[in-house]
Amino acid sequence: MKYRTLPGTDLQLSAIGMGCWAIGGKWWGKVDDRQSLAAIHAALDHGINWFDTAPLYGHGHADELLVEALGNRRHDVIIATKVGVRWRGLEGHAYSDLTPDHIIEDCEASLRRLRLDTIPLLQVHWPCERDTPLEATLEALMALRDGGKIRHFGLCNYGSQPLLQALAYAPELASLQTPYSMLRREFEYALRQVTAPDEVPRLGVLVYETLCRGLLTGKFPSLPRFPESDLRHRDDRFREPGFSRSKPLVDALRVVGNKLNVPPAALAAAWALRQPGVSVAIVGAKRPEQIADNVQALDVLFREKVWKALAPHIARVRL
Ligand SMILES: NC(=O)c1ccc[n+]([C@@H]2O[C@H](COP(=O)([O-])OP(=O)(O)OC[C@H]3O[C@@H](n4cnc5c(N)ncnc54)[C@H](OP(=O)(O)O)[C@@H]3O)[C@@H](O)[C@H]2O)c1
Repeated sequence: MKYRTLPGTDLQLSAIGMGCWAIGGKWWGKVDDRQSLAAIHAALDHGINWFDTAPLYGHGHADELLVEALGNRRHDVIIATKVGVRWRGLEGHAYSDLTPDHIIEDCEASLRRLRLDTIPLLQVHWPCERDTPLEATLEALMALRDGGKIRHFGLCNYGSQPLLQALAYAPELASLQTPYSMLRREFEYALRQVTAPDEVPRLGVLVYETLCRGLLTGKFPSLPRFPESDLRHRDDRFREPGFSRSKPLVDALRVVGNKLNVPPAALAAAWALRQPGVSVAIVGAKRPEQIADNVQALDVLFREKVWKALAPHIARVRL
């Protein structure tokens, strides 16, 4: 494993972090807790030292599994969790409430659930859907930091304008979490807005959905059918025409992966890790074998011939 320092922080993160949404057991079809626990252990064995979770992931279940699997090691690894989402009933609509009171309450609840005294990285889950000024939310995060409840704070899913506003108000903002993959490239526009050309961003960038929810692993040779309980049932990337449009790229990953004897998932995660501005990648996994595949990204990171061969395929497709 390789480790990267999140700019402006003392956090040394493994290049790949384990994403814990699916192990929460909701919205990702069939999930087996025993496999999820084994996946967390596999992550530790492979040198993964950080876990991205959220209160929403299984309404706390992902956190419970992390506590169970990590035991006292939860104090040594870096748990990055989120704040600011409320939901009405377990099947109800989730929405972002970024009022200072809710930020504080939600953080306290995570501290209790994760059995931690301090959260290494607390991230706003998604932008405000009410009328709380960004500055008020940032003040609440700063108060949590000053009170020792969290060490660093970040944002998820913010566009370039509010991100610039947040950086101006709170230059110590540690991170942005954003979707980014061979197929999903909006982040490149945001990056250009927050940095001068060739400048390294002054905040850490944690990219997610690098496997495009499994599409880039090459495991779907034909259009898959997901149960209603799997969010991919309603995801256009797993419907036509999106699925067929991405197929030439997925086929190329499969061919190149076979030649190198690495899984396509490793190529997809490695591509994200190679991109300018990206600090680390969050890769979701439900089973230990998936972790073992995904960490092979580190083996192909600097195989320049491979990237040259893949470049035209990657350039050709966007969803
Ligand atoms: N901040 C936010 O708003 C936000 C939003 C989304 C995600 N995230 C974070 O980012 C993480 C990763 O994103 P994501 O989970 O949506 O997408 P992802 O990492 O692109 O895909 C993960 C899924 O792909 C499948 N998979 C993983 N490794 C595989 C392998 N080697 N071979 C075959 N299949 C494999 C697994 O599902 P199956 O086995 O069911 O196919 C897994 O759950 C999340 O867990 C979460 O921590 C954050």
